[in-house]
Amino acid sequence: MEIDKNLVLPKSDSWKMFNAIAGRYDFLNRLLSLGQDVRWRRALKKFMPETSGQTILDLATGTADVLIVLTKNNSKIHRGFGVDPAVKMLEIGTKKIQRAHLDDRLMLQQGDAQALPFLDETFDCVTISFGIRNIPDLRLALLEMYRVTKKGGRVLILEFSKPENPLLKAGHWLYLQTFVPIVGFIFSGNFKAYTYLNQTIQTFPYGDRFCKILKQMGFVDIKPHPLMGGAATIYVAQK
Ligand SMILES: C[S@@+](CC[C@H](N)C(=O)[O-])C[C@H]1O[C@@H](n2cnc3c(N)ncnc32)[C@H](O)[C@@H]1O
Repeated sequence: MEIDKNLVLPKSDSWKMFNAIAGRYDFLNRLLSLGQDVRWRRALKKFMPETSGQTILDLATGTADVLIVLTKNNSKIHRGFGVDPAVKMLEIGTKKIQRAHLDDRLMLQQGDAQALPFLDETFDCVTISFGIRNIPDLRLALLEMYRVTKKGGRVLILEFSKPENPLLKAGHWLYLQTFVPIVGFIFSGNFKAYTYLNQTIQTFPYGDRFCKILKQMGFVDIKPHPLMGGAATIYVAQK
């Protein structure tokens, strides 16, 4: 089946869409994932490095949920930076960081994951959650992540994937085709945003294909950790 071109949002413009829905983004995330997104981001914690005095970077940071969940009650993180092109998402993230009393350690700035404003080998850990599938040039972003990670440092990538079990896979497909666009439209008024979500999930090279790409970019010790039967996956890789 041909996809209606009017409904396809180019990835290079996705940040504008996130700006447009920023005020409802957190609420819609909780609603559409039935609260699972919070659990999935929290699951990143157990894959963080153990070293003290860490400097971390979160890409496509949005409203800063990842930085906050990783840094709260974790004295091993000395400083954390978040980068995203969508200023409206960052404004909400900055307020959340202040409310969590983490503004002495966390800072957000506007930027593109494909051209990071940081020196080589700056970060102990680089994270990206539900962001990598939105980046126009996936390989460029991964090369940038590799460049700014310290030798022996780690990257954690949390992204939607597809369940292997045929029953779960069918339910997942139905959920993406119907529940997500309809409920997303009702609560955000933005139909494109939630058909876009479906399209990017369907076309993302998840699982072994994504592990192969990470390997090509130079990462080692790559391990995928499926969550909820494979609806999402955390990829852990070392530099
Ligand atoms: C689904 S949101 C994820 C936000 C956050 N990481 C989370 O877990 O809720 C995707 C984010 O990717 C950002 N994004 C889009 N293009 C980007 C790019 N080229 N570089 C960095 N971030 C980008 C969007 O602005 C948006 O905030």
